[in-house]
Amino acid sequence: MMEPVTGAAPSADVGTGHEARERVVTRGPSRVPPTPHATALERIRTVVVEEHEDLARLVAHRIASLVRERMATGKTAVLGLATGSTPIGVYRELIRMHREDGLSFANVVSFNLDEYYPMAPDNIHSYHRFMWENLFSQVDMKPENVHIPRGDIPRDEVEQYCRNYEDAIRRAGGIDFQILGVGKTGHIGFNEPGSGVDSRTRLVHLDAVTRRDAAADFFGEEFVPKEAITMGVATILEAREIAILATGEHKSAIVRRAVEGEVNLEVAATFLQRHPTTTFYVDRAAGAALTRIATPWLLDEVEWTNDLMIRAVVWLSLQTQNAILKLTQRDYAEHGMSSLVAQKGSPGAVNGEVFNALGAKIRGKSKLPTGRRTICFSPHPDDDVISMGASCASSCRTTTR
Ligand code: GLP
Repeated sequence: MMEPVTGAAPSADVGTGHEARERVVTRGPSRVPPTPHATALERIRTVVVEEHEDLARLVAHRIASLVRERMATGKTAVLGLATGSTPIGVYRELIRMHREDGLSFANVVSFNLDEYYPMAPDNIHSYHRFMWENLFSQVDMKPENVHIPRGDIPRDEVEQYCRNYEDAIRRAGGIDFQILGVGKTGHIGFNEPGSGVDSRTRLVHLDAVTRRDAAADFFGEEFVPKEAITMGVATILEAREIAILATGEHKSAIVRRAVEGEVNLEVAATFLQRHPTTTFYVDRAAGAALTRIATPWLLDEVEWTNDLMIRAVVWLSLQTQNAILKLTQRDYAEHGMSSLVAQKGSPGAVNGEVFNALGAKIRGKSKLPTGRRTICFSPHPDDDVISMGASCASSCRTTTR
């Protein structure tokens, strides 16, 4: 594996930057092939794995090795924990290791990132309930070592409560390993857009997007609390090691923004670019918008497979707003695709091949009547265009009903 490059990504391969012991065996060819020079754009070390479970295993094994290492020297391991659907796989794997491999949590002290406000700890929506159900009750964690911000503190005591939370983290020796998810707004914990790099544990207002995302859990947006208590960005950045996790296509845009974009107050996750031992773990879907996966030809020479050629030419056409058959040598050259033209002989040859390949995807063309009027009955206003448009436009006049 490659050596870590501070503040940048080593490669799409294992590349956690934290020793080869994190290498886990994943089913079949589940690693996304590395693309050299991804480091040029990625400002946070990023590990892309095929599946959610691969990512859960990687992170859980890293935690387990830290916990065992500390146990062996009679020390505690201080974990910063997150809620949400993303880390559940990690917790499941930790529980499995506890049951099957004897991993003990007796020396673990934990601090959770956040809690809704107001929120009673025994409420089904509380992060207290979430953590006890998904992890603590199933391992040998000592209840006195668990810290989760309480959402039932009287409002006039919240400020002092938050200061005490920070003190407790400090007294525990600081967080050794922090797990983070990422919200669609780029929030970490509940540090919504506008949260400063110096922010500490505090009461915050939740963004409309965040409340909408939580609506299903609360059976309606109107039931989602408007506030929360969260560790601050500064609190998080003090952790000695951070693993930020994202899975699913719906996270791909924010992953790209956090990893490749500029540091910006509007996207708290970008502050992690300044943290030297942060690793972003993403599954293939969440990593799909990263340049090394979406447009690898912009980074380096690629092996032009048929699929990659079609994807690249469609992208080039959208990028240049030029019809595929009109793409020029210059278009190809300016977008890192000269090698494709060289391979096929001329821009016209590439254009023609891709155009024909796309045309061939329209099934049953030859069976369509030509020169006749066709009526399509479409259940939804745009279904005619989506399902029939391309086929019919090329061969006949279409009327939709
Ligand atoms: C909430 C939590 C965050 C979490 C985010 C994403 O906003 N406060 O800590 O990262 O949800 O949740 P999910 O993992 O379900 O996408």
